[in-house]
Order: sequence, then C-alpha cells, then structure tokens
Amino acid sequence: MEPLQRLYDAGAYEPLPLPEELERLYGGPLRLSQQGLYANFVQSIDGVVAIASVPSPGSVISLHSEADRFVMALLRAAAEAVLIGAGTLRDGPGHQWTPEGIDRQRAGAYAELRRRLGLPPQPRLVVLTARGDVDPHHPGFEPGALIVTTELGAERLAGALPGSCEVLVLAGDQRIDVGELLVVLRGGGLGRILSEAGPTVTRQLLAGSLLDELFLTQSPVLIGGERAARPLSGEASLPGHLPGGTRYPAELLSAGRHGSHLFLRYRFAGASSIPPAGGEPSPAGSGQA
Ligand SMILES: NC(=O)c1ccc[n+]([C@@H]2O[C@H](COP(=O)([O-])OP(=O)(O)OC[C@H]3O[C@@H](n4cnc5c(N)ncnc54)[C@H](OP(=O)(O)O)[C@@H]3O)[C@@H](O)[C@H]2O)c1
Repeated sequence: MEPLQRLYDAGAYEPLPLPEELERLYGGPLRLSQQGLYANFVQSIDGVVAIASVPSPGSVISLHSEADRFVMALLRAAAEAVLIGAGTLRDGPGHQWTPEGIDRQRAGAYAELRRRLGLPPQPRLVVLTARGDVDPHHPGFEPGALIVTTELGAERLAGALPGSCEVLVLAGDQRIDVGELLVVLRGGGLGRILSEAGPTVTRQLLAGSLLDELFLTQSPVLIGGERAARPLSGEASLPGHLPGGTRYPAELLSAGRHGSHLFLRYRFAGASSIPPAGGEPSPAGSGQA
C-alpha cells in the first residue's frame, strides 16, 4: 500500500508510539487523547454510510479501499474498546472488530503498538442491543465481548453466549441511556473508546454531546438511491439520522489523502441550535435576549 499523504495536522495531543511501518503508512504521527470517544465512518460523496440489504456496506462504499481498512485497523489498535450497535453486528456476519479482523497483513505491527501502549492484545468489543437480537454464535463474540442490554434482552440471550462474554443490564425494556453506558465503561477503566456503531447509535451519542471526534473517510463515489422515499429500507445517511434544528460545529484536526479518498478528522464542539433567520441565537442558557 502507498502511504497516505498528510495534507494538514493541527498537532493536537501527544503522538502515539507507533511502530515505524504504521507511522510511515499513516503519513505521520497519530495523535490521540488518553480519554476520548471517537467515531469512524466512511461515506460516499452524497453522504451515504449504509445500504440496506448489502452486508458490510462500508467496504462497498469505500470501494474496498485498502487505506480505509488500514486507518480502521490502526484506530482499533489504539483503542481500549470498540463500541457497536446490534445493527452493525447483524450487518457484519463473520466480522471481528479487531485490528487483524480488517487488516491481517499488518497484525504484528498492531500487536506491537498495543504492547507499547500497555494494552491487552485485543480491544474490548462492546455491543449495544435493547432487544438482545444478536446471533450468539457470531465470530465477533469469540475473543470475548461485553453485551449491554435490557432485562428483556438478557432473558433472550441467557445461556446462549460464549463463556468469554459478559452481559450488562442497564435498563428494563426500553432503550439504554448512552450517557449512562459511557459512565459505566469509563468506570470500568476504558478510557479511549472507538465507536464503529451505525447511524442509530451515533445519532444518540451526538445528541448527548458525547462524541469527541469523528474520523471520516470521504470515498470518491456517488451511491444514489431514493432515500427520501424509502427512509427505513433504503440507504442511510448520517445527517439524515440527526435531529433537525440542531447543528454540530466541528474543528478540522487532520486531513490526509490516498488517491481520490480523503481522510478527515474532526473534533466536535458540542451540539447547538440552528440560528433562526436573521441572526445567531443567544448562547444556550445565557438568559440574554
Ligand atoms: N459507513 C460506515 O462507516 C458505517 C459505520 C458503522 C455502521 N455502518 C452500517 O450501518 C448499518 C447499521 O446501522 P444501524 O444504525 O442499525 O447500526 P447501529 O447503530 O450500530 O445499531 C442499531 C441497533 O443498536 C441497538 N441500539 C441502538 N440504540 C440503543 C439504545 N439506546 N439502547 C439499546 N440498544 C440500542 C438496537 O439493537 P436491537 O435492535 O438489537 O435492540 C438497534 O437496532 C450497517 O449496515 C452497518 O454496516 C456503516
């Protein structure tokens, strides 16, 4: 693989102790905070991140980009946990959310990075499911996973999951509060968390101003489709899943290029209201007219 070309780096945070091969391919240092929740998405030019009825649509949208798989694997290698929703698990049959699950070729270098960071061999997989509608034999569970669910979901999964898995009940039969989930994960010592969840969970993380950063691969492809006519069965775009009337300002932390793919990294400032016509709203809670 040709290295990524670094176009911009704001220099935020200390560089990780990357093995030489990973730093060369990434086009420079990877800087991450110790504590942070960062999401990784690949999207088409028209903002599509998921395609109904297509298993693992990310690789279709990325045009099977090796550079995109490399960045995904690198982020997994640096993470203490990888968070997904059950929708992503269901659409990734056979997948393992580990560095070598996406890039076997550089497994040794990812393992070396984890050794240098003092991390266990694999990031902890955390799966969020209200209904417990997951295949207990999914290979993603093999290295051990934390399944966060409701009482109903736990009943459905009782006795079915591999012994290496742990079930955590955080709600009765309703959706789990993702803010509470993060408090529990942090309390369990998981500082640096990568979210590879789909639009449904990501929307909740953004709505709660819980997402610190977004690693966004902009793939050089238009997907097309009739999203407006088929909002539940057609393609999903991340903006289409976000609550209306809210904006999420972000700062560019780095930009890279690999062929016609762009690798962008943003830091969010938190959610705010869209200004009404005629001017900016007063800051939330300031009490000013
Ligand atoms: N382009 C990309 O980079 C990218 C990245 C990630 C995912 N994707 C794609 O996105 C698609 C999946 O989208 P998605 O939005 O369905 O995925 P998702 O957000 O990962 O999963 C949604 C599921 O998570 C559970 N969930 C969500 N919020 C919950 C809450 N508050 N409490 C308890 N459980 C909760 C529910 O599972 P139950 O129904 O079991 O209760 C829900 O159906 C897949 O095709 C995937 O490949 C693409």
